[in-house]
Formats: sequence, C-alpha cells, structure tokens
Amino acid sequence: MSELFSPFQLKSVTLRNRIAVPPMCQYSAVDGVLNDWHLAHYSGLARGGAGLVIVEATAVSPEGRITPGCSGLWNDAQAQALAPIAAAIRAAGAVPGIQIGHAGRKASANRPWEGDDHIPDGDARGWPTLSPSAIAFGAHLPKVPQAMREEDIARVRGDFRTAARRAREAGFAWLELHFAHGYLGQSFFSVHANRRQDRYGGSAENRSRFLLETLAAVREEWPEHLPLTARFGVIEYDGRDAETLAESIALAKAFKSGGLDLLSVSVGFSTLQANIPWAPAFLAPIAGQVRRQAGIPVAAAWSIDAPETAESTVATGQLDLVMVGRAHLANPHWPYHAALKLKVDRAAWVLPAPYAHWLARYRPVS
Ligand SMILES: Cc1cc2nc3c(=O)[nH]c(=O)nc-3n(C[C@H](O)[C@H](O)[C@H](O)COP(=O)(O)O)c2cc1C
Repeated sequence: MSELFSPFQLKSVTLRNRIAVPPMCQYSAVDGVLNDWHLAHYSGLARGGAGLVIVEATAVSPEGRITPGCSGLWNDAQAQALAPIAAAIRAAGAVPGIQIGHAGRKASANRPWEGDDHIPDGDARGWPTLSPSAIAFGAHLPKVPQAMREEDIARVRGDFRTAARRAREAGFAWLELHFAHGYLGQSFFSVHANRRQDRYGGSAENRSRFLLETLAAVREEWPEHLPLTARFGVIEYDGRDAETLAESIALAKAFKSGGLDLLSVSVGFSTLQANIPWAPAFLAPIAGQVRRQAGIPVAAAWSIDAPETAESTVATGQLDLVMVGRAHLANPHWPYHAALKLKVDRAAWVLPAPYAHWLARYRPVS
C-alpha cells in the first residue's frame, strides 16, 4: 500500500493522492491577466495525475507583482481569465488551488530569463515597492522599498481579502497565502527586513501581526468548508535558526487557532547571508517537526522528487502532502511514473480514465 497514493481529505475537499504541484510563476501574463499559455500549462500538469495543482503566485495588487509578467487578482478581468484554468484543472481530476501574495521589497524585477534583477529606477516598466521597513534586500535586488504606513498595511490586508473572494468566484477550491520566500508576509516576520518600532515590529508577536491579521481578513471571505492554507518560511539558515524555528512554530500554532488548515513549510529567503543545506528532501524533517509541535497538517517542496523519497516523507509522518515542482515541468506525468516505480497496484489509474484505460495495458520503457 502506498501512502503517497492514498487520498487526503482537508475540510470538504478530497485529493486523489498526496502529490501537489506547488505554485510556479510563469512570468507570462500581461497586466496580471493569464492567457492560453497558462491554460495549456496548468491543464497539462493536472492531467499528469497530481491531487492538487496550485496556480502561481498571484498578486493582490499591482505593486505586489514580482515582475511585469506576474499573475494578478485585483480586477475582474484577471478573475475571468483564471476561471477556465480552474475548470481545466478540475476536469482533469485535480483540485484547483491558487496562491495569492504580495512581493514586497522583491517586487518590480525583471523576469528570471531577463536578468532576475530589479528594474532600474526611472525605467517605466518598474514601480515603487513596499515593505515593513525601508531596507533593500541587496545584491541583484537593490531597490529601497517604502516603509509601509498603517494605512498601507490596512489597504494590502483588504486586497488579500478581495483577491480571496475573486479566487473563489473563479472556481478555486484551495487557497494558499504566500507568506514565504522574502516577499511581503515573510518580510514582516523577518528581523532582516522588519525594523519597525510600532506594533508591527520588534517582538515575534508584533512581527507576526500582519500575517495573522491578513489570515483573519481572508478567513472572513473564504468559505469555511474549503481549505485555507499558507506558505511560510520557518527557517532562514542564517545562524539564528533555533530561535527562528521556535518563533515559527509559535506562529504556526497561532495560524491554526486563526483558522488555517495546512501550512506549506518553506525557507525564508529573507537574507543573502543564508547557508542553505541543499539536499534531497532537506526540509522534510523540519516540516515534520512543525507538524508534530504545532499540530497542523503540512506540505513541503524542495527536491522531493525521487518517488521512494516522496513515499517515505508521507509514510514516516513528516508530510501530509508532497510538493513536486521542477520535476513536473520535466515530466507532467511524474505521478504516473512514480506509481510505476513504487509498484502501485493499477498504476495507470492515477491518470484520468481516457489515458488510464490504454496505459494499463502498455508499459513505457524506462
Ligand atoms: C519556475 C519557478 C517558479 C516558482 N514560483 C513560485 C511561486 O509562484 N510561489 C512559490 O511559493 N514558490 C515558487 N517557486 C518555488 C516552487 O514552488 C518550489 O518550492 C521549488 O521549485 C522547489 O521544489 P522542487 O525542488 O520540487 O522544484 C517557483 C519555482 C520555480 C522553479
């Protein structure tokens, strides 16, 4: 019996297995509106057999986009373009999810294949950025953000709430708040980005305030019966890891009390001074610790793409969901090939019936 291929229920939603495609920006939208590329991309991924497909980081406001090509959900045209994508994911048997976020001080950048750096000041393609404090990330992202006033904080919180409503109306059944990877939510939590002296800075409790208030605002809008989740960097690998992890686990408990249903555990990426121990599944034991100590279901990504490794993270109780990212870009049928490798009974049937019926009698070479 494979644990990876066992169903996973969260609230009223049941995933056909524990494999999820994590959000992966395509940097190919125009004015935040997704197009035929995204429809082809996301339907292909869903067809591959994953239980959950999460649409890329989608900005709640224009200045919250990472690049000019990023997805947005601050107007109805953007929601209308997302609706067929949610429907296509669902038609292929996966649950359609979406990540909403705000890029904070890492916003206003060039696409990865066009430099991955900040668009220079004075270039009309760029825009002013917002962050808890006026501290730049540095290196390729040198732009100094504006420190947010309380009214900016309230406005962005409201933008998250409105985007959540639009996501629901567009047909998504799983919402992920992007509080990770050095973007706005993570920056409020991080001592590297937040030097505020008011109630949003200083103590861990104050640095958690924006995240918890945003969760509360979204919780009011997002239906109670559908999963509300967040991605959050619980560790920075900056030398103060025990302290950060303890603060993160306290926040995970507060998230749970505030109505969060699952935490996607990731890395903070708030500082250039990090020493990340890249290795297959390096984050899984930490996610397992968060799961045990905070008592909340967890997911994690980062090189968990050997089928046996993915299986063992679930079987040993480290993860509830395995996020398989780049391996899905290389092979959208990763779940099927994983099922073959793990000798799952009737492996072809992880795919939709019109494929499975034929593949059940045909074994690919490899
Ligand atoms: C092209 C690309 C775009 C990404 N965009 C996002 C994103 O929108 N939101 C996010 O939280 N992570 C993003 N990530 C990180 C992935 O979700 C994932 O954590 C990462 O690829 C590691 O998992 P993997 O080793 O299975 O690829 C992106 C990664 C890639 C490769």
